[in-house]
Amino acid sequence: MTASAPAAAVLPVQRSDDLKTALRGDVLTFRGNPFLQPVDDCISFERDALVVMEEGRIVARGAARELLPTLEAGVEVAHYPDHLILPGFIDCHVHYPQTEMIAAFGEQLIDWLNRYTFVAEQGFADPEHAREVVKVFLAEQLRNGVTSSCVFGTVHAGAVDALFEEAACLDLRIMAGKVCMDRHAPEALLDTPLRAYEESRALIERWHGRGRAEYVITPRFAPTSSHGQLEMLGALAAEFPDVLIQSHVSENLDEVAWVAQLFPACQDYTRVYERYGLLRPRAIYGHGIHLSEDELAAFHASGASLAHCPTSNFFLGSGCLNARRVCRAERPVKLGLGTDIGAGTSFSMLQTMNEAYKAAQFHGQPLTAAQAFYLATRGGAEALGIAQRVGSVEVGMEADLAVLDLRSTPLLDYRMRYVRDLDETLFVQMMLGDDRAIAATYVAGKAAHAR
Ligand code: GUN
Ligand code: ZN
Repeated sequence: MTASAPAAAVLPVQRSDDLKTALRGDVLTFRGNPFLQPVDDCISFERDALVVMEEGRIVARGAARELLPTLEAGVEVAHYPDHLILPGFIDCHVHYPQTEMIAAFGEQLIDWLNRYTFVAEQGFADPEHAREVVKVFLAEQLRNGVTSSCVFGTVHAGAVDALFEEAACLDLRIMAGKVCMDRHAPEALLDTPLRAYEESRALIERWHGRGRAEYVITPRFAPTSSHGQLEMLGALAAEFPDVLIQSHVSENLDEVAWVAQLFPACQDYTRVYERYGLLRPRAIYGHGIHLSEDELAAFHASGASLAHCPTSNFFLGSGCLNARRVCRAERPVKLGLGTDIGAGTSFSMLQTMNEAYKAAQFHGQPLTAAQAFYLATRGGAEALGIAQRVGSVEVGMEADLAVLDLRSTPLLDYRMRYVRDLDETLFVQMMLGDDRAIAATYVAGKAAHAR
């Protein structure tokens, strides 16, 4: 994959030129949720369309033959025949500091955290190291068509500043937070309830709503926060009701048992977060593999979301989420996809869809291609509460787009000869495609990556 890919170009964003530009090609986007509605009612596919972009937004979208004559002379049109123009992918759960220790051998969650993760994260006390990793991380995301993500930093505020600063240079819509932990981790990674509150609050004031940045209140997970810290973060969340919250829930059975020991007064893992006011709309929890029906009902009732991270779940041996159960129509829980780097093994959302399909197969409830592409685009945007801005290719939306080369490898080129319809095209792409399939990534209307 990466080794054989041609050198990637991450292009500097030229925000001073807000010229009108356009992309021409087949366009796919979602207008509804294919877990809840017939697919034909929610998928929008238009052959030979034009997407016109200006000042970072989509200003027109329609048949190329109708729109081309309306364009002023000199408007640059990038033509992508045999490609698919999609909303930029949305990675709902990812740890940028773990880029440096992706693919660490052999442990399950708790041992993996202690042996690898907490060691790597200590290096982020150095902001220059943080910045170096951020650059690799964002370049990888763009190479994979990811234009928005909800990101864990480390306990160090400076490591979050580095991410927001570099994302701002690229004009990326990014959501991120300082990890809060005050127990069960190495001393060098611990804060206190008050420090967690004050540093998170200062980061909210510095970054939340600045350009395309949003702050995310980020307790790592229940076992690494004391009752006092969860209380302080609940108070912070109450002060900022529109701010996102992210954490982990019910990923691994040993973790679930540990949480039951640590919080005996709470009925279950979900009720720990609920008790501290951390279960609400725009709260997104990674994994949720082992949630009971009752806990899923609590997620639904609260408006909180889950991020499905299948490459991570297979890698750590955590289990297989039943995505269709999570999205069940009687009590749908909002669901997005996450790479969960560095427990996750790929920055590619196509590969993440691939593994989500396989996780669902274990439950005898396979995901359709439409459901998988929905989760990676509009579903993720709904789960993060940003669907009014990104996740769809529609007039008024921010112009974050991924262009998929449908024949990116010799095998895909061959396999595509036998594809009969859109559904099969999408399925083949999510099974066989990876970073090589991303021909271009547009951020706020500008080319940010071209293969
Ligand atoms: N649970 C708590 N922290 C982490 C983390 O960094 N990665 C994963 N996969 N699970 C976690
Ligand atoms: Zn995670």
